[in-house]
Amino acid sequence: MCGIVGYIGKGRAQSVLTSGLARLEYRGYDSAGIVTFNGRATLLRAKGKVADLNKLVKSSATSDSVGIGHTRWATHGEPSVKNAHPHRAGRIYMVHNGIIENYKELKSRLKNHKFASETDSEVLAALIDSFYKDDLTEAVIKALQLVDGTYGIAVVATDNPEKIVVARNGSPLIIGVGKDETLVASDASALLGYTDRAIYLNDGEIAAITRDGIALRNLQNEPVDAEIEKIEADLAQIQKQGYAHFLLKEISEQPKTLAETLRGRVDVRNERVVLGGINMTPSQLRGIKHITIVGCGTAYYAGLLASYYIEQLVEDVTVNVVIASEFRYKSSYIPHDSVALIVSQSGETADTLACMREIQSRGVKCLGIINSVGSTIAREADGGVYIHAGPEISVASTKAFTSQTSAMLMFGIMLAQSRSINPRDVRPFIQELSILPSEIGKLIKNQSKAIAAIAKKYSSFDHAIYLGRGTAYPVALEGALKLKEISYVDANGYPAGELKHGPIALVDDRFFEVFVIPDDELLEKMVSNLQEVEARSGHIIAITNSSKKLAAETVIKVPTKLKVLTPILLNVVQQLFAYHIAVARGNDVDQPRNLAKSVTVE
Ligand code: AGP
Repeated sequence: MCGIVGYIGKGRAQSVLTSGLARLEYRGYDSAGIVTFNGRATLLRAKGKVADLNKLVKSSATSDSVGIGHTRWATHGEPSVKNAHPHRAGRIYMVHNGIIENYKELKSRLKNHKFASETDSEVLAALIDSFYKDDLTEAVIKALQLVDGTYGIAVVATDNPEKIVVARNGSPLIIGVGKDETLVASDASALLGYTDRAIYLNDGEIAAITRDGIALRNLQNEPVDAEIEKIEADLAQIQKQGYAHFLLKEISEQPKTLAETLRGRVDVRNERVVLGGINMTPSQLRGIKHITIVGCGTAYYAGLLASYYIEQLVEDVTVNVVIASEFRYKSSYIPHDSVALIVSQSGETADTLACMREIQSRGVKCLGIINSVGSTIAREADGGVYIHAGPEISVASTKAFTSQTSAMLMFGIMLAQSRSINPRDVRPFIQELSILPSEIGKLIKNQSKAIAAIAKKYSSFDHAIYLGRGTAYPVALEGALKLKEISYVDANGYPAGELKHGPIALVDDRFFEVFVIPDDELLEKMVSNLQEVEARSGHIIAITNSSKKLAAETVIKVPTKLKVLTPILLNVVQQLFAYHIAVARGNDVDQPRNLAKSVTVE
């Protein structure tokens, strides 16, 4: 949720920290702060965004070359300056991402500290200060040994400002190893342009960073080897490149990013798919009779859509798709001839990570369907597929949905191949996957303008219903989420067959209804649902590739060569529709209120 940056080097810490925080702002943007050191501490904190912090930096510029910074997504205590990080306790300054579950009990022990905030993070800073004599690493270790909960922290002591101590448990922290400088960040994007060499801290590891180097330890204060890895992303990928918003960039680049997902994996000529990272032989794939797909939000909807495809591809496999935060408390039985697909763009979602660990504890193999290379879920999974969609900066997930669904579809094709199923059954999926990037490109090129005009027409509605059947049902759910999270319209998706069982009572002039209608065997049923709403003067928007005449107020017709994968294409219409409504409503499209890109707290 929160963004953390630290710096020690020859440059100006204030500019390195604020530009790094600006790159991480999508992770949380209630407040921001930095502290830099040069004989004295310069602490600057602002409610709101990094731009607000920058105004303070302008009037309190220093040439300090050491510092730490933070952008916050509030968990304990409302967004305010007093709750903004860095927090101070005695000689200690600290930034924190995560939740200290036992902060109340720890706070009761810290009688000598006068608390200035309502945060659990300040309690941790005070705890570290209570142990700090002259060895900061030791004080941090002693404090963390008492902590229950998740943390990614960076800590500096004013009487030893040439050392930054960092630690992680459940919240990502990466050390960027530069030339004569070292950075720390909660996400690799803050390191780009400084270095492509990184140490990904693991849970339970602590690092002391000085100008002379980096020393890793564990919670027992024993030395740990540091492994330097290459950062995959590059600077260009995290810049808007002329687009008005990251969201429009990420929607528009889907032909390219989906092609990256498929590259080297889909062999049209030989009608085969090869996924290197799943580490399973054909006989192991043949032995799979049950798949559990885990995710949150859009990742969950991608899993739901993939489940329809997988069950179409292999008749002897059942697929159970679960919302990560629910699964853990439902304790569903998972048969042993199973595999779990763990779907996460960020690879850091706390609910999804916890769910994977629970499933692994039952001896079931977990395969990550992940975008962020080196993320926690990717590192802890038993294998998986990187979707290679490039950094997704906008809080609303778009290109990841398309690539996640396609990656899981490829897994389904591999299951089918392992069963030496009649090749004709995989052929449409492979052929359509191979043209899906260009079909998306054609839609974006030919239909964006019309979709923008239609969105404007409907941008004043505050309520919406999204409807689909079969593979269009998860797409309807995703379309409703996209609109909801960036335009704040009360949009909800339903299986179209459920309309008569309640939702149709909602239809009145306050609502518009989006019908996602692929030209498939369910078309006629969708047409009768549409007529039921039309008979009640609904404001219907039909998104379809069918040439059938539909009794809708607005029809967005999408010509395509696709058949089975049409719903993935129709979802791109929904992405553009939601984007233009959010823009028309004047919202902060890339950083919608109350949200964060990666929900690293449960
Ligand atoms: C989607 O647009 C939302 N930002 C949110 O639902 C997101 O999909 C969810 O938090 C899961 O994130 P992840 O894919 O990084 O795990």
